[in-house]
Amino acid sequence: MDRKLNLNRAETFSFINPWIRYFLFFFSFLFWVFSLLIVAIGVYAKVQKATDTVRDTFLIDPAVILIVVGVVMFFITFCGCIGALRENIHLLKTFSFSLTLVFLTQLAIAVLGFFYSDQTRDALGKFVNKAIVHYRDDLDLQNLMDYIQREFKCCGWNNYTDWSWNLYFNCTQGNPSSERCAVPYSCCTPVPGEVVINTKCGFGVQTQNYLEATKSIYPVGCADRAVRWIESHLLLVGALALGLSLPQIAGIVLSQILISQIQDEISSVL
Ligand SMILES: *[C@@H]1O[C@H](CO)[C@@H](O)[C@H](O)[C@H]1NC(C)=O
Ligand SMILES: *[C@@H]1O[C@H](CO)[C@@H](O)[C@H](O)[C@H]1NC(C)=O
Repeated sequence: MDRKLNLNRAETFSFINPWIRYFLFFFSFLFWVFSLLIVAIGVYAKVQKATDTVRDTFLIDPAVILIVVGVVMFFITFCGCIGALRENIHLLKTFSFSLTLVFLTQLAIAVLGFFYSDQTRDALGKFVNKAIVHYRDDLDLQNLMDYIQREFKCCGWNNYTDWSWNLYFNCTQGNPSSERCAVPYSCCTPVPGEVVINTKCGFGVQTQNYLEATKSIYPVGCADRAVRWIESHLLLVGALALGLSLPQIAGIVLSQILISQIQDEISSVL
């Protein structure tokens, strides 16, 4: 009699909340699809790239970073997806543990980046240095530097004389390049009402002092601009960090709840 009652109870009552279970499933599924997209973009970028200057510049190929991030995300979200669907404790625990690891790693990088801001700045400077050196060898780097300089209204990393790092713009006496002592056009301040764009506006600028240079180009280096941009957009940076970590925290909490519900369910049946 007792046993029959128990069985009836087990059929209708469950410790597992279906809303949490299906939410975790769809949530993981969404990011699982997203991870496939990231891998696809990474592979596409890798195949597209004929030359390897970008890889040389950044030590690690950005396309490889995309592929690695995508593959890691694929396995983590796969565990969450199937774990929730099959109510599999091992997969859910793997999901929760990996997500916690990723979250803590990101947190550590953010905290270190904040406390070692000088070193972060130096590291960024090294990247920009490489981008300037390879400016003419790689269209992506050229577009990147042009974009940075236009958007942040800056020129070079410390200042416009950094363009001497590049073989073509190098200001050393005897440099046969026609662009000797010049800076790229993206350094130029727009002239209101200009009909014919003066693409040579940056020519000879490196020989000029700050005041002279101000007349034709952005005289401030991108390092100072970047620091000021971050300081004036702290709220945006915080929102971005939150947007990145919130889904992770939600995933960790929901999977933990689901794990304990499944464990309750198992012990109630035993
Ligand atoms: C540009 O920066 C370099 C290195 O920081 C410095 O030596 C040089 O005096 C600066 N030039 C101008 C014109 O500000
Ligand atoms: C410019 O070129 C000369 C000769 O190749 C080199 O010695 C110098 O270091 C270069 N300038 C910069 C800023 O790299």
